[in-house]
Amino acid sequence: MLGKLFDLTGKVALVAGGGGYLGYSICRALAAHGARVGVGDINEQAIHRSVDAVQGDGGQAVAVQLDSGKEESIERSLDQVQQSLGPVSIVVNCATTATGKSHENLTVEDWQTCLQTTLVGEFLIARSAARRMIKQGGGGSIIHFGSMYGMVSPNPVAYGDKMPMNPPDYGAAKAGVLQLTRYQAVLWGKHGIRVNAVVPGPFPNPGVQAKHPDFVDRLSQRVPMARIGQGDEIAGAVVYLASSASSYVTGTSLVVDGGWTAW
Ligand SMILES: NC(=O)c1ccc[n+]([C@@H]2O[C@H](COP(=O)([O-])OP(=O)(O)OC[C@H]3O[C@@H](n4cnc5c(N)ncnc54)[C@H](O)[C@@H]3O)[C@@H](O)[C@H]2O)c1
Repeated sequence: MLGKLFDLTGKVALVAGGGGYLGYSICRALAAHGARVGVGDINEQAIHRSVDAVQGDGGQAVAVQLDSGKEESIERSLDQVQQSLGPVSIVVNCATTATGKSHENLTVEDWQTCLQTTLVGEFLIARSAARRMIKQGGGGSIIHFGSMYGMVSPNPVAYGDKMPMNPPDYGAAKAGVLQLTRYQAVLWGKHGIRVNAVVPGPFPNPGVQAKHPDFVDRLSQRVPMARIGQGDEIAGAVVYLASSASSYVTGTSLVVDGGWTAW
């Protein structure tokens, strides 16, 4: 038992946002530890990139077209994964949208889209998955995704004069995710369903890294570890929270930020 703390053999996971930058690493890591993975995303091309990677590693994955803000799409996705791989007992909620707009230019529609995809989406996916986990018995692990910007404000210095700071709809949604995590952990604890959040710090994707090297430098200067995170560095936190290594951990937020929020 203690030698296999991170073993996910026989488990089935749905990763919402599994086609994204961090989702790609998360799907591969879950599969590498033995889970069968449903890759859910709104972007079909991105889904296939992650599915191909998992299968290329020798793992099992299925593609699932998912809109995280729509309950009927979530139910359909959970049905699909269950039919192809078995009942889902691990859910990772890392779908997100970002406008890149400034505080000044943000519209009510931008707020609604962001809240629907992230905060409402994480709520809906967790609720649908938990109903099934309660019925099937055996508990489960739900892993929400917050952000350092749900804990502290973006630092204007990191963005310089030419880029708008990360907008407030995103940070407000991510702050909400941390409270949703505590609420759902309390609600479902007695069913053996653990609910935790991973809170990433600065993980600009390779496109941003290539386009804005100055931004990456300024971010790095504000990290105690003096560098940005790389995509695969989020995966350990997810595997930990998905596995029996964290069997008595619920309602917590695991910050993976190189120390950004420590000073
Ligand atoms: N990368 C970072 O620096 C960073 C920092 C803090 C928090 N986070 C959080 O980590 C998670 C993953 O971030 P990422 O960098 O991989 O983002 P990403 O943009 O690369 O991936 C997000 C994925 O969500 C998908 N998506 C968007 N709308 C959707 C919808 N309605 N339904 C289903 N899928 C949808 C996108 O197609 C994309 O594949 C997010 O929750 C993000 O907020 C990331």
